[in-house]
Amino acid sequence: MKYIDAIDYQLEIGRLEESSFPTLLQSYSKSKKVIIVDENTHDNCLSYLITTFDDLAEAEVILLPAGEENKQMSIAFSVWEALTEYQVGRNDLIINLGGGMITDMGGFIASCYKRGCDFINIPTSLLAMVDASIGGKTGINLNQFKNQIGVFSNPKSVFIDTSFLQTLPLEELESGYAEMLKHGLISSKDLFFEILEQLEHPTELSEALLLKSIEVKNKIVKQDPLENGWRKVLNFGHTIGHAIEGHFMGTLNIPHGHAVAIGMVMEAFLSVKHGKLSVADYEEIEPAILTHYKMPNLSDEDIQGMIALLSNDKKNSEGRINCCLLTKIGDCTIDNYLPESYFMEMFMHFKNLQINLN
Ligand SMILES: NC(=O)c1ccc[n+]([C@@H]2O[C@H](COP(=O)([O-])OP(=O)(O)OC[C@H]3O[C@@H](n4cnc5c(N)ncnc54)[C@H](O)[C@@H]3O)[C@@H](O)[C@H]2O)c1
Repeated sequence: MKYIDAIDYQLEIGRLEESSFPTLLQSYSKSKKVIIVDENTHDNCLSYLITTFDDLAEAEVILLPAGEENKQMSIAFSVWEALTEYQVGRNDLIINLGGGMITDMGGFIASCYKRGCDFINIPTSLLAMVDASIGGKTGINLNQFKNQIGVFSNPKSVFIDTSFLQTLPLEELESGYAEMLKHGLISSKDLFFEILEQLEHPTELSEALLLKSIEVKNKIVKQDPLENGWRKVLNFGHTIGHAIEGHFMGTLNIPHGHAVAIGMVMEAFLSVKHGKLSVADYEEIEPAILTHYKMPNLSDEDIQGMIALLSNDKKNSEGRINCCLLTKIGDCTIDNYLPESYFMEMFMHFKNLQINLN
């Protein structure tokens, strides 16, 4: 069992039975327990939980439709209604069992319900293990605007048990690796290349590498829990990644990490254009990422749609788009405010690149 101190709770990495999860459940022995799952974690992860831990035998299960397009207010509303119907109180416990969609939305639901109800995260996707379930950001989308509504709120505990990854589809596993690559790109060249190497054998993830990635995120979050400064560096690849994910939601449904991977290539491209990153570093990053993550074909309408989303990004100021830019592989700057025209030019570059390749 590995323990990492987060802000005011602990991350535990190892088999759930060997963690402090059973003890935690005992401390809620008189409380109601509610498990929030989506269709896939219901089918693949739930039975282990309720058959292994007696304290969960009577737990209520709330089943949500899977997919990012369901991280929406109408679904959150229906969960609040269900919690009310089950007479869940402030001292009861919500258990989020799922990927980042469930930990983001379940955390948000718990934090607003009766002004705050205890919750824990049991991430079941790689992306949620290395990123979404830790750090206290919870929220939902507003139509195509990613995480437009949300609160900072920490879980009581996070239990990371990699045996849940056995049923995770490969595409979703790769999605998690994208956030790990981001952790490398913003903090350590060696880590970036170690993760790339591991991505050649995605199902054989080493726990040591998982830990290194979690530690990058946790260290940054502890320095700046409410994202007033340095924590913004974790948004590298996300300004554009969110626009890609939001724009294609309901059509191509590009998984979060894949959108972030493409966003990282594009933001690295902007880093070169802005005179921060060397062409040599860019030429290492671009092919390495695009070998694993497919750039979607971009039409003029797609570009317009993404520009519209970027123009309303929550980090913008005075009409400029706030973007992280790399200075080298392993170092990144925050709070670069770029005009919309830079993004238009960048999208046209990648569109023309595709035309030339075809
Ligand atoms: N709060 C944060 O700091 C933070 C950070 C990064 C990403 N996010 C958010 O996380 C979300 C992306 O997370 P995600 O990629 O985990 O998405 P997800 O929760 O939608 O999971 C991806 C898919 O994998 C399935 N799945 C999950 N675990 C499984 C398992 N063990 N077996 C089989 N199927 C399984 C899900 O049902 C879903 O279909 C986005 O909403 C993103 O905005 C939040």
